[in-house]
Amino acid sequence: MHIRFHSLTLSRPLYAKIPTMSKRILVVDDEIDIVEAIANILSLEEYAILKAYRGYDAVKTAIKEKPDLIILDVKMPVMDGMDTLHELRRKGFDNPVIVISGHGDVKTAVEAVRLGAFDFLEKPLSQNGLLIAVQNALNSPTETETDEPDGQNQIIGQDPAFIQCLRVAERIAPTTAPVLITGDTGTGKEVIARYIHEHSKRKKRFVEVNCAAIPDELIESELFGHIKGSFTGAIADKTGKFLAADGGTLFLDEIGDMSLKTQAKVLRAIQEKIIIPVGSNTPISVNVRIISATNKNLAHEIEENRFREDLFYRLNVIELKMPSLAERKSDIPLMIDYFAMISGKENGLKQVRFTDDAKALLAERDYPGNVRELKNLVERIVVISQKSTISMEDVKMILDNRFDIPAGDFQETTALPVAPGPSEIDFFKINSLKEFRDRIERLFIIEKLKQNKFNISKTAEIMETPRSNLYKKLEQYDIDVKELEAYYGKKT
Ligand SMILES: Nc1ncnc2c1ncn2[C@@H]1O[C@H](COP(=O)(O)OP(=O)(O)OP(=O)(O)O)[C@@H](O)[C@H]1O
Ligand SMILES: [Mg+2]
Repeated sequence: MHIRFHSLTLSRPLYAKIPTMSKRILVVDDEIDIVEAIANILSLEEYAILKAYRGYDAVKTAIKEKPDLIILDVKMPVMDGMDTLHELRRKGFDNPVIVISGHGDVKTAVEAVRLGAFDFLEKPLSQNGLLIAVQNALNSPTETETDEPDGQNQIIGQDPAFIQCLRVAERIAPTTAPVLITGDTGTGKEVIARYIHEHSKRKKRFVEVNCAAIPDELIESELFGHIKGSFTGAIADKTGKFLAADGGTLFLDEIGDMSLKTQAKVLRAIQEKIIIPVGSNTPISVNVRIISATNKNLAHEIEENRFREDLFYRLNVIELKMPSLAERKSDIPLMIDYFAMISGKENGLKQVRFTDDAKALLAERDYPGNVRELKNLVERIVVISQKSTISMEDVKMILDNRFDIPAGDFQETTALPVAPGPSEIDFFKINSLKEFRDRIERLFIIEKLKQNKFNISKTAEIMETPRSNLYKKLEQYDIDVKELEAYYGKKT
């Protein structure tokens, strides 16, 4: 076992290597400023950043998103870095973790490494040390592929309306023709974009840009890159997304939200197949396949002079319109089975299934948020019911809002509604002893957490149970300590 203190070793030059694949890094610290500082440094290097401010949140995100690397602060309230690391390993997260400690505490470092941390960095972090540690961790042999063939990320559907889309996607995948994917929110535009890439001969990267999420001042540098010193804050050369996608696919998501000024530049890049990084005058030739997506009506945007017609024709060589869920109702039962299986797995429940009448009830509903809305609803039902067979009655109870589900919430979230208080559960409607016990246990744990200011170690101690068991229970009952703390924190 050896521990490296990178803040002391500056043997390799800064920005020695630009990463060739968009690796995803989860940064975890309770101090927002530190998360932002680390994220800023890493995103200059083309890494995609996920953020969490609590250990419990980090575990959830890590399991869901499987980042390639986690950078984890040791000192955090509620669930500290060591607890978090422990939980991550227990749940099978085996990508590298770099631990950050505030006081160069060698004991903590040793413990972290023993628990399987890849490396250890001391605050204050040096930019150089951070980047080198990150590069080393990402190049380490322990790194595992993120796309595991474990049944996650499958494309579900057999309705003719959907199969038609899929066939078109497969047929055009090997070509370089630009594809514009349209369709309402949550219909699977991104899912199909990735599918096209996977079925293309372009085995290089799939690079995604969410045009709606990047401020206008930054989008040019984001897309085309920049030269060190070309504007304030450009502290190093940056590779743009076009170049990053060279030989691969560039997915321009929410293209309808791109400003006219940027549209002009994108048009030129597509037409001439060259890009010029901000601050440079050397053109670089690029070979990218463009897939764009929008839920806006671009014809209407053109009429309103918000979208360039010439760009539209460039992007829209092939248009793929994703059907709404209402247009492929026969897929709903299949999707319920699939989403139930996934969220069951995530919540430690084996072989969750919905009875036929439960599925029929769900199939009758409207889903303005389409597949995403259905997925979230199934997830919530699974989490709230905590059963392996979910009946129509169970679904009804939840749809009747007995469990306080925020209406119309189509956002991608696993957050549970705040735990219902005793008065909100009608215990005598419950038949099985096990369910009764589970519900009571859940409430009991929440109450004890509240009494102990959401300190997990202390709560476990008071409950006279090992901390690991408490974690298991928190997971089993999907108790989100951070959310509870945020909710009750001010009241206790
Ligand atoms: N055919 C499908 N099979 C399985 N999951 C799907 C399918 N289509 C969509 N999903 C899931 O539904 C959610 C929404 O899909 P996606 O992000 O691709 O939609 P979108 O059309 O890009 O939405 P938006 O317009 O809001 O960006 C994702 O969680 C995705 O995994
Ligand atoms: Mg999308």
